[in-house]
Amino acid sequence: MEEKEIQGLDNLSENIKLDKKEVKSLFIIGKNMLKTKKPDDMINAAKSAGLNKTLGAFDLIILGVGAIIGSGIFTVVGIAAAGGPESVGAGPALIISMILASLACVFSAMCYSEFASMIPVAGSAYLYTYATMGEFLAWIVGWVLMLEYLVGYIAVASAWTGYFIQFLQGFSKYLPSYITNPPIWLIQDYGSASKTLLSQGLNPEVNIPHLFNIPISLNMPGIVITLIIMSILIKGIKESTKMAGVMVLIKMTVIALFLITGAFYIKPENWTPFAPNGFQGIFMGAFIIFFAYIGFDAIATAAEETKNPQKNLPIGIIGSLGTCTIIYVLVALVLCGMIPMNQIDIQAPIAHAISSVGQDWIAGLISIGALTGLTSVLLVLMLAATRILYAMTRDGFFPQSLKTVHKKFKTPHIITIMVAIICIMGSTFLNISTAAELCNFGTFTSFIIVCVAVLILRYKDPLRPRPYKVPFSPWFPLFGIICCSFLMFYSMKFLTTSRFLFPLWIVLGTLFYFGYSYKELRKND
Ligand code: ALA
Repeated sequence: MEEKEIQGLDNLSENIKLDKKEVKSLFIIGKNMLKTKKPDDMINAAKSAGLNKTLGAFDLIILGVGAIIGSGIFTVVGIAAAGGPESVGAGPALIISMILASLACVFSAMCYSEFASMIPVAGSAYLYTYATMGEFLAWIVGWVLMLEYLVGYIAVASAWTGYFIQFLQGFSKYLPSYITNPPIWLIQDYGSASKTLLSQGLNPEVNIPHLFNIPISLNMPGIVITLIIMSILIKGIKESTKMAGVMVLIKMTVIALFLITGAFYIKPENWTPFAPNGFQGIFMGAFIIFFAYIGFDAIATAAEETKNPQKNLPIGIIGSLGTCTIIYVLVALVLCGMIPMNQIDIQAPIAHAISSVGQDWIAGLISIGALTGLTSVLLVLMLAATRILYAMTRDGFFPQSLKTVHKKFKTPHIITIMVAIICIMGSTFLNISTAAELCNFGTFTSFIIVCVAVLILRYKDPLRPRPYKVPFSPWFPLFGIICCSFLMFYSMKFLTTSRFLFPLWIVLGTLFYFGYSYKELRKND
């Protein structure tokens, strides 16, 4: 400890009436919490990690679009347009909501790109925070990213099951009814199953089986797809992107099919009134549809497995976000032009809109495309969750036994299995809308922190080579911070469940840090 610091502590202990020892230990804790990691050390650690470098710019765009287009545009878009349990809908002004949400993403995407090209290591926002704001905030960001990827995964898995059952029902002539119409407790979490049963006038206590007095209600198809995705990821990331490529192609084809067919059924009168719920509808729509954009940041988590990351990462991140924004705005235009706002379905809005104009077979194809799209999102979200946890474990926040890389496949298989188990357990508690809202809160928080981190590193380390630089800094990072904070705090006024669960998650993370990670990190001091 330096002399100036010792003198300062003596004065402080006199002022706040604590003995010197207590003040000293508080000072040391504070100093440790603010300890940053040198970007060069991170890059060197990544070099020795042994992950395979196989991904190019095109692979990254595929990975990005694979992560982005999913339940947001196939399911959540209906809630953003028509309204949900705790929010009002944007109506045709959904186009404005989409542009607002994409603006929040574009500024943050540029900040992600600057970091990803400068520090191309697995860990993304978590490591960018470590380099700029220190250990504790880095931990909090990593913890919050778990909300984005793990809880986001749970939301998408729930939508996946919905489309899967719809898909099976298309074969009701050929398959037994216990497959096409399974009991509700085999396809939904307990809360959702109870709600569905009550809405049908049935008693959940009687219709949901109990084991030792515990009600058993599981998203079984979600569990099976999670186990399949886990196995694919253990086998290898290149295989995963190959599969994502096929799935991206299918979902883009069905979206094109929707746009082309739907365009013939647009009635311009459906576009008025343009914003039936005014600004509240537009802003809540933007908050909710933000979920549809989540995923581009997942590309940064594959940095260590990317060839020439300085060039390819920015292309992958901004390219996939730009592609998706254009597609989404077109979908919003066509969807809101096809049917009046109050007739938009909130379960399967796109397929429903097409079948409502009599094109049932196209609606069937759209359901298959949606299922494929959701599968690719699941793949990338789980991939991202494992890579963040891997980076955090490598830094000592979690037990070291977790970071073992599979001898043959060179993938972090123990973490992948653990993530799959957490997703399965989480899906028994959380319903789709709460999971999506929580995922949004987590993502907004990490975007804000990445924008702040860009500004800090520009100030602290201005000479570091930046293969990609956010243009018009500090304005663009500041716009990112303002857009994300505004949407997040505005929505908190209305979303009562998730605004309670989000701070709870942060408190749990803080307890884990002080209860385990902080001590483990200081073991060798
Ligand atoms: N953007 C992803 C989706 O829409 C999370 O499913």
